[in-house]
Amino acid sequence: MLPVDIARLVRASWVLAREGVINALPLPEPRPFAVSAALLLAGAIRRRGAASRAERLSIAFSRLGPSYVKLGQFLATRPDVVGAALATDLAELQDAMPDFGLAGARAVIGDSFGLEATRLFPELGGPIAAASIAQVHKAAVTDRDGRHDVAVKVLRPGIGRRIASDLAGFYLAARLIERLAPRVRRLRPVAVVDTLARSLTLEMDLRLEAAALSEMAQNTADDDDFRVPTVDWRRTSRSVLTMEWIDGIKLSDVTAIRAAGHDLPKLAATLLQSFLRHALRDGFFHADMHQGNLFVDAAGRIVAVDFGIVGRLGPRERRFLAEILHGFITRNYRRVAEVHFEAGYVPPEQELETFAQALRAVGEPLHGVPASEIAMSRLLNQLFETTELFAMQTRPELILLQKTMVVVEGVARSLDPDLDMWKVSEPVVSNWIARNLGPIGRIETAVSAAGDLLALAPRLPRVFDAIETIATRTEAADESRRRRRSIALPLWIGALSLAVIAASSLGWF
Ligand SMILES: Nc1ncnc2c1ncn2[C@@H]1O[C@H](COP(=O)(O)OP(=O)(O)O)[C@@H](O)[C@H]1O
Ligand SMILES: [Mg+2]
Repeated sequence: MLPVDIARLVRASWVLAREGVINALPLPEPRPFAVSAALLLAGAIRRRGAASRAERLSIAFSRLGPSYVKLGQFLATRPDVVGAALATDLAELQDAMPDFGLAGARAVIGDSFGLEATRLFPELGGPIAAASIAQVHKAAVTDRDGRHDVAVKVLRPGIGRRIASDLAGFYLAARLIERLAPRVRRLRPVAVVDTLARSLTLEMDLRLEAAALSEMAQNTADDDDFRVPTVDWRRTSRSVLTMEWIDGIKLSDVTAIRAAGHDLPKLAATLLQSFLRHALRDGFFHADMHQGNLFVDAAGRIVAVDFGIVGRLGPRERRFLAEILHGFITRNYRRVAEVHFEAGYVPPEQELETFAQALRAVGEPLHGVPASEIAMSRLLNQLFETTELFAMQTRPELILLQKTMVVVEGVARSLDPDLDMWKVSEPVVSNWIARNLGPIGRIETAVSAAGDLLALAPRLPRVFDAIETIATRTEAADESRRRRRSIALPLWIGALSLAVIAASSLGWF
């Protein structure tokens, strides 16, 4: 890590503290001395203004650069880490950045395709959209099947180096936090940075986005109401993604959709059903389905772009999701409870009947309410809250699904305020259940359960290890507490001197 990286990290922590981020974190009281001191100092010179915290955060994250925008967006999906209030504010964070121009894009394309670049992209238009990682151009190309328009997504120059440096900074910060503030360790900052790093690494290789597009195209080949642009693999590389140009109206432009004569309630139903079908049937869903990434084409089909972030559900999670939705639709709370136990999400020592009772408390209030007021995403959210009471482990893939469901529902409701989530989703859910949990499905499940048992066998030694670890944990805890105290002071001194060096190198004093 270079001094300039550290300086950037220090500056970022400073800006974020000033804008109230650290203050909003669900930190246990009393806070470590240094955090309190930093907050006092930051609070004293906090910029006052009419702007809300959400706006100030948005400005701060954008100013700090692409990795921070991504960090902010990522944390918006983790209320379990940053608290509900901060997550809500961060959800307003928009990923819009100044573009890097046509010449910038040409340079990246040149690096990727060398001498062939001008032949492959003879007519490249100016940028039409720019965000932290990439920008998009419209271009015309000529192939065997004639001349047609394409969309060209180009990675921001130098973004790899920048993100690597910022990630190194995030890791340093996360490690310092884990060491210095043992009580914050519960939030597992290093694991959070790990997840962010993994998702950023995937987003930084546009061939993977192309592959996600192609996988989705294959899954939905027989669906006549949803599609994705086809990939032009010949014009695609790590930093350039070329795909079919979509001529359509964005789902954000409801007025234009209405003017074009599309059936809005049908479109809303299609959107929700498509999403559920992807999650349940395919176990592969678009995890960034906001209105800016969705079009309706002339034939009334929904077309999705931007597959940088996708989610996957294994067979177990898919079945869990289907049975839960089905259980709530049919008010069979005991079944919903059983599903939790069968999936192994709730420890067996919890009581099934009491759990079913808690689920009834979540589900019953929904039934007297007009359909237009029931949010499926809220139901899932309440469900997760309830299940936490019963020591259920939060499953990251289900959280991502729930977060996407919030977005999908929002878009669907903007098209049809009276949308009845249950009625619209019922056919997809019932169909899946009939198909998968009917006679054929049961045989398949039995086969896969046998597979699970076999898969468990090699892990048994590790289970015994775990038991042993628990037995020795008490001693270890005492030992590590002693050690932590002895390294804490030098670390603090080190951190403070780093901050001073960084600040002076930035010319602050
Ligand atoms: N295939 C396409 N056809 C037409 N417009 C597209 C296409 N792909 C992207 N765009 C436009 O470019 C914008 C940014 O592309 P997107 O893939 O969403 O990038 P980002 O990851 O930066 O959001 C989209 O919101 C859309 O307006
Ligand atoms: Mg987008």
